[in-house]
Amino acid sequence: MTRPLSVGIAGLGTVGGGVLRLLRDNADIVAAHAGRPISVTAVSARDRGRDRGVKLDGVRWYQDPVALATESGVDAVVELIGGSDDPAHALVFAALRAGKSVVTANKALLARHGVALAQAAERSGASLAFEASVAGGIPIIKALREGLAANRIRRVAGILNGTCNFILTSMRERGREFADVLAEAQKLGYAEADPGFDIDGVDAAHKLAILTALAFGRAVRFDDVHVEGIRQVSALDIAFARELGYRIKLLGIARRTEAGIESRVHPCMVPENSPLARVDGVYNAVVAEGDFVGRVMLEGRGAGAGPTASAVVADLIDLARGRTAPVWGAAADGLSDAPSVPMSAYVGAYYLRLMVLDRPGVIADVAGALRDSGVSLESMLQHGRAPGEAVPIVLVTHETRESQMRVAVDKIERLDSVLERPSVIRIEHG
Ligand SMILES: NC(=O)c1ccc[n+]([C@@H]2O[C@H](COP(=O)([O-])OP(=O)(O)OC[C@H]3O[C@@H](n4cnc5c(N)ncnc54)[C@H](OP(=O)(O)O)[C@@H]3O)[C@@H](O)[C@H]2O)c1
Repeated sequence: MTRPLSVGIAGLGTVGGGVLRLLRDNADIVAAHAGRPISVTAVSARDRGRDRGVKLDGVRWYQDPVALATESGVDAVVELIGGSDDPAHALVFAALRAGKSVVTANKALLARHGVALAQAAERSGASLAFEASVAGGIPIIKALREGLAANRIRRVAGILNGTCNFILTSMRERGREFADVLAEAQKLGYAEADPGFDIDGVDAAHKLAILTALAFGRAVRFDDVHVEGIRQVSALDIAFARELGYRIKLLGIARRTEAGIESRVHPCMVPENSPLARVDGVYNAVVAEGDFVGRVMLEGRGAGAGPTASAVVADLIDLARGRTAPVWGAAADGLSDAPSVPMSAYVGAYYLRLMVLDRPGVIADVAGALRDSGVSLESMLQHGRAPGEAVPIVLVTHETRESQMRVAVDKIERLDSVLERPSVIRIEHG
């Protein structure tokens, strides 16, 4: 066997620890696939005294991860610290500039600095691999960049955040409100103490920005992703979704349209018999639609030490074998600059749930506001009557433009008989 690939790992937390264990427990299969052993020779983390569950005898310790990145004895650098700022930013650029290939799980860094990273890698001839950055153990980066490379991709859609999917699944299965389920998810370790990054859709948006760039060969543009999270989804909406034959999922969707590329993260009503509707709990899934291949769906665990380590080590095996690909599937200066479609131009059907005072003329007022904005109704749902009391009504629209829908909803919200902010959820085919 040839010389081992010597790896330096910066970050020994959930994912870093998982990578150390995988390389130890599956050393034989990894070496067989890589054509040589992969050996960890240097590590960096904040706390040297912490037990990582794996013996690190003889492994060089770096208090400064940037110094690890440029160490001459290291062939490849694995960045598992996270965040789009330093030290992750400094260490990945330092490694690439030094001609060292990098493997990372850092979606925030890729989403915000993807083009500059690709340019740095191209200048020095180093590789930058990031399979673990999107959907954990699901090999979606390789699928888009290699397996589906011959297709013109029309659409990519996915459940990209396990925390949100766990919360929405629990709300549906147990009829509970968002805040209760979030508190429970935090206790179980499925949600962070500061959950905003996940539940406000930012994490899914980072991942979608990466998928959009790969799917459409366009420079990554995180700021163009429309982002909404799941805080506003209520148990009532989930119950109505069930009644209408839908499930509510937080999806990341990127679509090629005549006007340009649409990329958006928001709660969606998806038909309950569609494949994405059936992906529950902490699972992630991604659907890609290509002109020759048709529809492909990959499902699996989107986070956690094991699945994420599986993706990181797959990238290391590629490096050990000398298998490389351009960061975004094509040369950085050959990426397209196709325009992004603003959310106001989005066209689709909508679910609209109102809480109204049950009195004569309310429905006519609501219907009038929709008509005046050019929004046409497909169906309406109301259960029983409760004169003088608050009752929910649900309206489903035909396809309409987002800008028109916003005008209608603003008007409806200002009606005296409408008691709270309307709930608006886009309907997606899944
Ligand atoms: N967790 C997942 O399931 C998952 C899934 C997909 C992708 N990712 C991505 O993987 C990356 C790592 O996530 P994680 O969950 O493993 O994070 P984590 O558990 O918080 O671990 C972060 C590691 O970085 C080290 N670190 C932090 N600041 C440092 C500094 N200034 N210098 C040196 N080391 C430093 C920490 O050291 P100490 O241990 O000494 O504190 C820790 O070992 C992130 O980009 C994340 O988005 C995570």
